[in-house]
Amino acid sequence: MKTIILQPKDIKTAISLLQAGENIAIPTETVYGLAADALQPEAIKRIFTIKKRPQSNPLILHIANIDQLEKVVCNIPDYAFKLAKKFWPGPLTLVLPKQSVISDIITAGQPTIAVRIPDHPITLQVIAALQLGLVAPSANIYTQISPTTADHVITGLGGHIPAILDGGPCKIGIESTIVDCTGTKPIILREGMVTKKDIALATNSKNINNKQQTSTIKAPGQHKKHYSPKKTFIVATTQELSEIIQYLQNQSISFSGFGFNEISQATTWIKMPINPDHYAQLLYKTMHELDALDAKIIIAELPPQSATWTGIHDRLLRASQDISTLKTKTI
Ligand code: TXA
Ligand code: MG
Repeated sequence: MKTIILQPKDIKTAISLLQAGENIAIPTETVYGLAADALQPEAIKRIFTIKKRPQSNPLILHIANIDQLEKVVCNIPDYAFKLAKKFWPGPLTLVLPKQSVISDIITAGQPTIAVRIPDHPITLQVIAALQLGLVAPSANIYTQISPTTADHVITGLGGHIPAILDGGPCKIGIESTIVDCTGTKPIILREGMVTKKDIALATNSKNINNKQQTSTIKAPGQHKKHYSPKKTFIVATTQELSEIIQYLQNQSISFSGFGFNEISQATTWIKMPINPDHYAQLLYKTMHELDALDAKIIIAELPPQSATWTGIHDRLLRASQDISTLKTKTI
């Protein structure tokens, strides 16, 4: 199958393809999504096949307008409305009890659905042209790095989908924060650039918790390896870096990487911005770039341990292997 790149002026073609039951990649402010019309079960099922994603992993529904929320979910607590009003359109997903119009294929049989309004003008127009909305996971093969440009989508899914709607590079750069809104208080299921503090402030809550292992809700990104480059990927603190570099040099193992300090021994070393918003925007782009180069290992210098970096930490740690793999595995 030939994958064509559609420009914003071709939006009608994008809409027609979705209405005809095809899957196309669409831009959002977080990452590109692999979309299907939320009312077409065959198109939704095909998302799992194309991504090689287990059917037990539910999808996010994207809507265009907050007025549509009650059409798709019920029992919305006050704090969820506060979050929606504060952060939509934007990188926040709310998990709420689903209405019966929502297919079980989207929710993997769960009684809840994850929903958000993405902050991308073209995609909002596409969604508005559909009756119920658009379901879309990230437009990458399961467990691989999420795409933040149309080029990244081509690398991962080129030849497997008819079209990509090119909306430019994603301005947030990592996936949305996911919040379980089925209880009396919000619970964070996946960290993102909307932080715990942002959620506490918007809902007037004192302490927001992350999901406990005992929760009955299925956790997103449960699988340890996620968002991963194909190469061995190691995350190290600034203190650990020099020891690792010494080891790799002794073993004559080539490496590339990214971080805040200059590392002259690397084949390629990308200096990252110290502002977390700018860093997030570049994270997957940097990982895609280094994954395509020759060096055997990719190293990331761990960013500061502070609240604004938790989403970035989560992605780096999920993508990485344990440092000990360097010494036990033949690279
Ligand atoms: O920013 C984003 O969220 C992007 C863009 C495309 O919107 N989407 C995205 O989708 O990251 P995906 O499928 O790669 O990740 C969504 C996560 C999955 O890990 C899934 O387990 C979780 O959301 N999820 C979906 N429905 C859920 C539900 N009802 N309860 C709990 N988790 C849910
Ligand atoms: Mg994903």
